[in-house]
Order: sequence, then structure tokens, then C-alpha cells
Amino acid sequence: MKIDTVLVLDFGGQYCHLIARRIRENNVYSEIVSHDISPTEIESWQKKVNVKGLILSGGPQSVFEPKAPKISHDILNLSLPVLGLCYGHQLIVHIMGGLVKPAEKREFGIACATIDKPGGVLKGLNSREKVWMSHSDIVYSLTNEYEALAHTENCPVAAFRYKKGIVYGLQWHPEVVHTENGDKMLKNFLFEVCQCEPNWTMEDFVEKAVDDTKKLLGADRVIVALSGGIDSSTVTALAAKAIGKNLTAVFVDHGFMRKSEPEFVENTFQKFDINFIAVDARQRFLQKLRGVIDPEQKRKVIGEEFVRVFEEEARKVGAEYLVQGTIYPDRIESGFGKFSDKIKTHHNVAGLPAKMEFKAVVEPLRELYKDEVRKVAEKLGLPNRIVKRQPFPGPGLAVRIIGEVTEDKLNIVRKADRIVTDEVESTGFKNKLWQYFAVLTDTKSTGVKGDSRAYGYMVAVRIVESREAMTASFAEIPYEVLEKISSRITNEIPDVTRVVYDITHKPPATIEWE
Ligand code: XMP
Repeated sequence: MKIDTVLVLDFGGQYCHLIARRIRENNVYSEIVSHDISPTEIESWQKKVNVKGLILSGGPQSVFEPKAPKISHDILNLSLPVLGLCYGHQLIVHIMGGLVKPAEKREFGIACATIDKPGGVLKGLNSREKVWMSHSDIVYSLTNEYEALAHTENCPVAAFRYKKGIVYGLQWHPEVVHTENGDKMLKNFLFEVCQCEPNWTMEDFVEKAVDDTKKLLGADRVIVALSGGIDSSTVTALAAKAIGKNLTAVFVDHGFMRKSEPEFVENTFQKFDINFIAVDARQRFLQKLRGVIDPEQKRKVIGEEFVRVFEEEARKVGAEYLVQGTIYPDRIESGFGKFSDKIKTHHNVAGLPAKMEFKAVVEPLRELYKDEVRKVAEKLGLPNRIVKRQPFPGPGLAVRIIGEVTEDKLNIVRKADRIVTDEVESTGFKNKLWQYFAVLTDTKSTGVKGDSRAYGYMVAVRIVESREAMTASFAEIPYEVLEKISSRITNEIPDVTRVVYDITHKPPATIEWE
């Protein structure tokens, strides 16, 4: 049976992939495709799956820019439902002869939309809806075949429908959680407009990923980069299921792990029925980072050194392929899309060196978000302690020390991190939180300890809630907990004189400080 599928045309928006993920949350299969997909290519998709609709994503460009990404005009005449979001919304109007203009006032963040004509994608909505906007062009007017469905204070046409057909546009982002009824809008598109059947599951994903990995790597010798985090543990379990003993898991202790972590990883994975190698690379990583201050440089140095260690280990076991647990947000923030902006270099994506000895780097989880990976981990039978682990960046504590990384600073941040972890975990909030950790800043400040002047470091505490790390909010932690964290850090770590709590959401900040 072919599964019902909605294709998302990628115009480079930061939230493009969230659209596919929201669709999958509704048990409908979705994949991201290039924005310039042709009708013939869509026909070849129809041979594998049942393409029931297309969504045009947002993007950072303006339709007026000479190199602005376009769609083939014929895509709108395929008798397939189409939904344009933000840039996609403007693009449809622009190519169909309506009027798009730069807005007098740009809109970023929450706006209030007045729904003038509910129905179709807007079925069952309130007359006023909270929506998430992020744009600089707006649609002013439409040609006769189009009908406006909603407006905001600054946007005369915030939603439209092609009168005779099944083409819709929304100026806002229904895929972002801040659009209160965004899920209802997407459900309307999937089930009312496209008439999809909700018959896709995570088991389907696991089965396909194991199958694809088996086909791709067959009888080859392969190493997998294992850090003990949820992503690399899951990809290790998945690859082990696909190719069994041809797989060697390489765990590199770069010295930037949290307290007791290397021991935890070794204990956990030595019990698995796979080949396991642990490499103590603490000194060589520290040496490579000597004098490195720039965060992007740090990430690149670490990414490169990881690969060098993997190459050495691969040579020993005769492996030509490297499997790693890269997930979707790693790639989007590293700016992999043709039109998307680079936010930071995730060590396992843009941090990889240009020249590597491997024939290929294989990333079976590359389309997934963290919570989807957790579901895959559960399906693969990984223990709860791994399934529920909070995310930890590959470059580890090195990106939680602002400025040069030294052994002394690692000891300070490690102790502070342990205190934050212990205190948060003793409160019962843990399950609500995405991440909780300490950052050692490069600011020093004056304090007074035991009647004497002290001059020491400032530690920042970062505790955030998030659904998938693309956006995050600082957590509202009770003062008693913050106070306990603060007094323990200043009492137990002599080099620290000040503790601050980071009250910045993402955006505009990222979750990690570097
Ligand atoms: P940011 O700081 O970009 O982080 O808001 C989003 C999520 O990704 C994690 N992170 C990384 N994970 N390699 C990783 O495997 C990296 O280089 C990296 N940088 C950030 C971060 O902890 C958060 O969960």
C-alpha cells in the first residue's frame, strides 16, 4: 500500500523542516524537497508514495530579489492541493499577478489575525487568532480568481484561497507553536483539503531506516561515532540492527564530558553485542584548542579532531564508512540549505573537515528531531536512562566555557554543572525541561567571601523548555531552587564569585552560549 504523503518545498526558512515534522506528528508521511521540483519529478514521487498535497515553506528572501527562489508555474495546475506559508504565500500571489510589496512595518513575533472567512484551511477557527509572523514583504491585493480570507493590522491579505481550486496561502507560520491554533490549520489542510489518511508511524521509519542502512552498507566494515548521547546511541542501536558485527562503535573521550559521563558510556555500551572501542583523546583535544577563543573556530577544531581519531580507529579495523547520529536541527543551524543562514557550526556537520579518508558519512537520523529520535530509541529497546537523557552538544563543555578552554576551567564548569543538575533533578521539574546546565563566562567580578575580597569567575545558569530546540524559552524556576544553585556554586567552587540566571529565549539567543 502506498502511503499518503505531503511534500514540503524548501525555500530555506528556519522553520521549513518543522512543517514536515508537524505533518508526521499527524501520522501523515512528509519529506522536504527542493523548491524547484518539476511536475515530472512529482510524478516519479507518485510511483513510490501517494502525494496528496504540497506545502511551500517560508524563506529568508524577498520575491523581488533577482536570485529569489521560484517554483515552476505548472506546480499550481497539477490538481494537487497547495499551501503557501509566508514566503510561499507571497510567491504564489506574485507569480499569479497579485500585488506583493515591502511592508511599511515589518512583523516579527506574535500578531493577531482577523479571520474574515473561515473554511478550508481556516475551518473552525475563532474570529481572532494569535499567529506567529516573521516577514518583511506583504500581500496587498489579489487578482479576481483569488479570495482574501484573513487580515492583520499591517497585512491586508494575511490568508487567501484560489476560488476555483485548492490553493491556499497563509502569511503566518502555523508550524510554530506560538501560532495557537497552528496544528488545527495544518490538520485542516491535511485531512479536509488533501483528504489524507493518517497511516504513517515511527515503526515505519525504523523499519525503513534499518532496511536502507542494510542496503547501503551491506557487507562493509563500518564505524559509528558514539558519544553516549541520545542521537549517537540511537544510531548505534539502529546500525547494529542493520549490519550487526560489521559495526564498531568508537567512543572518543575528548575530555569535555560531564562528571562520570565517560564511565557511564563505557559501562552501558560494553554490555551491547557490538564491537566497542574507547579512545582516551583528552590531551590531544586540549592541545588543539590551546589559544582558540572564537566559538566557530573551536567547533571546527573539535569536528576535525574527532574525524582524525575516527580515521585512525577505522584504519585499525578496516572500515571505510562512518555512521553518525546527526539530526535535523544540527544541519539546519549549520546552514546546509541553499538559502538558509548559518547560525552555528554543529561539530558533526559543517565542523567536518573538507578532506576525510571515509568513502561516505552515513546519517540515518538526519531528517529527525530530538523527540522523534527518542521514539526511535524506545522502539529499538534502548534503556530509559539513555532515552530520557537531556541533549548534550558534541563539543561538550568546550562550548560552555567562553574563551580559551583549560583544564582548570573544565574543572570549574564540571563542578557547577553537577550542582545545577543535582538541584534541578531533586525538584521534580526535570520532565518539563529541555536542558539545564552551567556556563563558565569569561567575565570576572569582585565578591566578598569570609570578610575578604575575592575576585573570581561569573557562572551563568541556563535552564530551558523546548519542544525541538528550534525555539526555546527560559524556564520559570522557583527562586528557592535558583538560590540553592547559586549559594552552592559560590560556596563549593572557590573560583566563582557570581552566578547569573540566563533569561533569554531562543530566538534571539541560542540554547548554548557558543
Ligand atoms: P543551540 O545552541 O544551537 O542548540 O540553540 C540547539 C540544540 O543542539 C545542541 N547542540 C549541539 N549538538 N553538536 C551537537 O550534537 C553540536 O555542535 C551542538 N551545538 C548545540 C544544544 O545542546 C541544543 O540541545
